[in-house]
Amino acid sequence: MTNTTKEKIIELVDLTREFEDGMVAVDNVNLYVRKGEFITFLGPSGCGKTTTLRMIAGFDKPSSGKILLNGKDISELPPNKRPINTVFQRYALFPHLNVYDNIAYGLKLKRVKATYKKPNGEIVEKIEKLTRAEINQKVEKALKMVDLEGFEKRSVSTLSGGQQQRVAIARAIVNEPKILLLDEPLGALDLKMRKDMQLELKEMHRKLGITFIYVTHDQEEALTMSDTIVVMKDGVIHQVGKPQEVYDNPRNLFVARFLGTPPINVFSGRISDGKIYIGDAAIYDTELPDAEVYVGIRPEGFVVDGDGPLACQFSNIEVMGRDVSIVATHKESHAPIVRAILPSDVRLADVSGEIRFSVKRDKLLVFDKVSEERIF
Ligand SMILES: Nc1ncnc2c1ncn2[C@@H]1O[C@H](COP(=O)(O)OP(=O)(O)O)[C@@H](O)[C@H]1O
Ligand SMILES: [Mg+2]
Repeated sequence: MTNTTKEKIIELVDLTREFEDGMVAVDNVNLYVRKGEFITFLGPSGCGKTTTLRMIAGFDKPSSGKILLNGKDISELPPNKRPINTVFQRYALFPHLNVYDNIAYGLKLKRVKATYKKPNGEIVEKIEKLTRAEINQKVEKALKMVDLEGFEKRSVSTLSGGQQQRVAIARAIVNEPKILLLDEPLGALDLKMRKDMQLELKEMHRKLGITFIYVTHDQEEALTMSDTIVVMKDGVIHQVGKPQEVYDNPRNLFVARFLGTPPINVFSGRISDGKIYIGDAAIYDTELPDAEVYVGIRPEGFVVDGDGPLACQFSNIEVMGRDVSIVATHKESHAPIVRAILPSDVRLADVSGEIRFSVKRDKLLVFDKVSEERIF
């Protein structure tokens, strides 16, 4: 289920951020985000995810390019004038305040425009604080959303990491932003808590019906949570697509390698006379011209086949419940091991020495050796 609409809420146009030391953290990024979408920036540490998010939030300014919100340039708008809130990795709560006051903090500072009609029909505008009852109602609603009802009086320093992060999320959503930015919000949590919070955040996204722009370096997290994934490296967008699209049809070797656990197996190979070779094994027919290539095979793309073209040296089998993993080696492999994942009901005769595979077409990805672009 997705809340995504057709309307574009955010557009990044030729967005660039060069720091004073010459570091180009974000390099001519073009992207749009649809209203209601759960979109994730995914990439290794240092690729420019946080810098992009900070510019969307207004904490940092582009060196060039524009950020449009509903079609209007907001590049000069201060953060508090943008209908956007941010949840950071380190939750930045006020340690001396309790849960309620942490969440209510921004609301107490907030001023809203109220209009009144005088008896003579004249309309007057006043800038007012929210009433205590209004604040109360908003805080309670936010606490309910993050499943922390009853925690109002607790000191935040007595909460677990997961609970603190929920308070941080409550504090961000209490202002009813149109867009929620989340910068590695689960990075400080342990694995079990992270998995639970992933599900909760998905559920919150569905219930709130607002746009989530999420940042992570964890490809599994990105694959499970997002409507759309934006894969970044060195300040540049390498691919944008639905999780399955990006996994199945990576545009280049970097994207293919960054997504998938265990990772794709990569071999040195070549195309010669209409065949794709790894070493002297012809894996597949092709109409592509001769070239030096990298041959990628997803772990689930191997079929154990005594007549198969690809011969590897068998090392061992790892049983993982639902499936089994065959660990082998091959002299053209870039990694020390080749890993094939097979359903656990596959019957393997006593393997030792050589093991032969054929390869599933849709799990075979071939990249030009020079450009590293995908060609097959
Ligand atoms: N204020 C700054 N001055 C100079 N370089 C910076 C600054 N902030 C970030 N960088 C650099 O910009 C690059 C992108 O950083 P960042 O956006 O934080 O990456 P990510 O969030 O993807 O890990 C990194 O090389 C980082 O060192
Ligand atoms: Mg970051």
